[in-house]
Amino acid sequence: MSGPDEPTRKQRFLVTAALPYANGPLHIGHMAGAYLPADIYVRFLRRMGKEVLFVCGSDEHGVPILVRARQEGKTPQEIVDYYHTLNQQTFEQFGIRFDVYFRTSHPLHHQIAQNFFLTLHQKGYLIEREIEQFYDPEIDMFLADRYILGTCPYCGYENAYGDQCEKCGTALSPDELKNPRSALTGKPPVRRKTRHWFFDLPRFTSWLRQWLLEEKAQTWKANVIGQCRSWLTIGLQPRAVTRDLPWGVPVPLSQAKGKVLYVWFEAPIGYISATQYYCQEHNLDWRQWWQDPNTALIHFIGKDNIVFHAIIFPAMLKAHGEYILPENVPANEFMNLEGRKISTSQNWAVWIHEFIQRHPDYIDAMRFVLTRLLPETRDSEFTWRDFHDLVQGELVGTLGNYLHRIWTLAYRLDVHTSWQTLPVDRETLRKLQPTIRQIAQAIHTFRFREALNLILQIAREGNQHLALEAPWQYLQSDRERAATILRTHLERFLLLTALIEPITPFTIAQIWQQWNIPNIRWEQLLRIGEQPLFHGEQPIPPPRIPYPRVHESMIQQEVHHLKEQAQPEEAREQPPTSSHQTISIHQFQQIQLVTGRILHVQNHPRAQRLYILQVDVGKYGRRQIVAGIRPYYTPEELQGKTVILVLNLEPKEIRGVRSEGMLLAAEDPNSGKVILLTTDEPTVPGASIR
Ligand code: MF3
Ligand code: ZN
Repeated sequence: MSGPDEPTRKQRFLVTAALPYANGPLHIGHMAGAYLPADIYVRFLRRMGKEVLFVCGSDEHGVPILVRARQEGKTPQEIVDYYHTLNQQTFEQFGIRFDVYFRTSHPLHHQIAQNFFLTLHQKGYLIEREIEQFYDPEIDMFLADRYILGTCPYCGYENAYGDQCEKCGTALSPDELKNPRSALTGKPPVRRKTRHWFFDLPRFTSWLRQWLLEEKAQTWKANVIGQCRSWLTIGLQPRAVTRDLPWGVPVPLSQAKGKVLYVWFEAPIGYISATQYYCQEHNLDWRQWWQDPNTALIHFIGKDNIVFHAIIFPAMLKAHGEYILPENVPANEFMNLEGRKISTSQNWAVWIHEFIQRHPDYIDAMRFVLTRLLPETRDSEFTWRDFHDLVQGELVGTLGNYLHRIWTLAYRLDVHTSWQTLPVDRETLRKLQPTIRQIAQAIHTFRFREALNLILQIAREGNQHLALEAPWQYLQSDRERAATILRTHLERFLLLTALIEPITPFTIAQIWQQWNIPNIRWEQLLRIGEQPLFHGEQPIPPPRIPYPRVHESMIQQEVHHLKEQAQPEEAREQPPTSSHQTISIHQFQQIQLVTGRILHVQNHPRAQRLYILQVDVGKYGRRQIVAGIRPYYTPEELQGKTVILVLNLEPKEIRGVRSEGMLLAAEDPNSGKVILLTTDEPTVPGASIR
């Protein structure tokens, strides 16, 4: 059934969520970026009676996985096996209910991706070219741009990546770097000739312009169209779709031995492989999902994936010729965490599998808060303070409170009441119908925050009515009157459970099971007040608190945990180094190490982990040093302590405070505790270390 509020008249939806790389666990930013809104969307669509297939899986190729495997002395397959299983389980436990969670190392995917490549090759969309590329002779490997480090020609920063300088933000190509070196071995790379295949993207420019900027500009989100517009303005280039790497989908051409498909070429084809795999297992025809124009294909992604899903993959599908194109690509922006960008390498993240382990009773609360804070139109921010306030104020205080009060009152009245015979206040309930339509509209246009606010509004209004009607006054004196008031609220109660189910599915599944409520259909909600949702055929079960409250201690514990596990922000620019890299004694002697005595300790005003230390360095004078040791030492413990410092480190502003050196410390690998180095016997400040 497709109503006037729906942007598409389609009845069948193929919903995809970006395939996460299988080289790390999932954090709240992943969930808020793509998976949670996708899951909520799918749950609403299903309630609306749409035919839906929800596909995802692991993205298991690419250089980072290979590098990681080398560093850990494992095979890439071992790495991806571990994270594939972990992430699949995390999604399940977090209530993200895919129909299929596939993986790109599966032979079926290899075969499908290779056939896709061959079709484009036969149709003449792939250009073969000889190019020169950087190569690391030490490990016999061509280097992706990311894995070349060097000095930025614009700002002089020495650890700029071959594709971008993180310091000044400039996009670079590796041959612009001065003194390039391999990030894997530290050795200077050499240039080598190699052959690659390039997808002829420029041939799709005018079609993309028409399709995106005219056809889709109305219905796609502004952040997505904005990025597409700027890509098209800058101009599209042919894109290399092959790589010289030992890990990936082999290029299916005899002249391409040792080459694999570029991960961003084959990973999106993973959506097709996942669908085919699912259909094989369930004896269904996959073509209805990918080749029938009555199917709406929707890609949920984060903003860093926009160009691949809105420009390159559609052009690949168009070039192939046998597939439908995306109906929409509702990309989200990023979610920050406690004032900082989420960062895997700095361990500045709330990891979902860990959160679930620490707080198994707050999964729905986390889904609720993330939905409230979805970065739908701009970057948003998650803080534990907000988590507390939103759960306490809205989930527990407004929604949970309403559900619980109705449940409790109805339970107390239940024994004597035959609910079927009582009238409902049709007028009041029918007034909710426009809100239900607005919610549908919000869902269809990917505005989940707004949908949630509308749902909360219905609960808020329920609480207000309840306060005015005060049915508890009549529990003894006029049970019939009390029950009549409750009868109408029971409709709102069930309405709310159906509306909030996509956001807090675990809680609602439990309530429905207790109440023995069969599946509630969206049409019933649209006609609230006309036909009863509640039939009162069975006794009302003993009330339970739907959503547990959050205690202040949990918040403090979480904030503490986050800061404990994090790497200090200033450590971020360290290039990846390999453990077998050696330096000469001469190189070592360039680092000037001396003893110092801590004179004075002060808290950094803008960073909770940092102290500002004044250190006496004897003949070298006095140095101000900013150090991330506040969680481990009190100022009293530090005062007067002899420490070892790097004297000739380039001075640096750390969160607005100048730091002229660095203290040496050991990090306990188990607890992560930081322990300062000192001398075995007292020495004068300024003694050199050799
Ligand atoms: N693995 C990519 C990321 O996490 C997303 C891949 S989406 C796909 O950014 F379409 F390529 F599969
Ligand atoms: Zn720079």
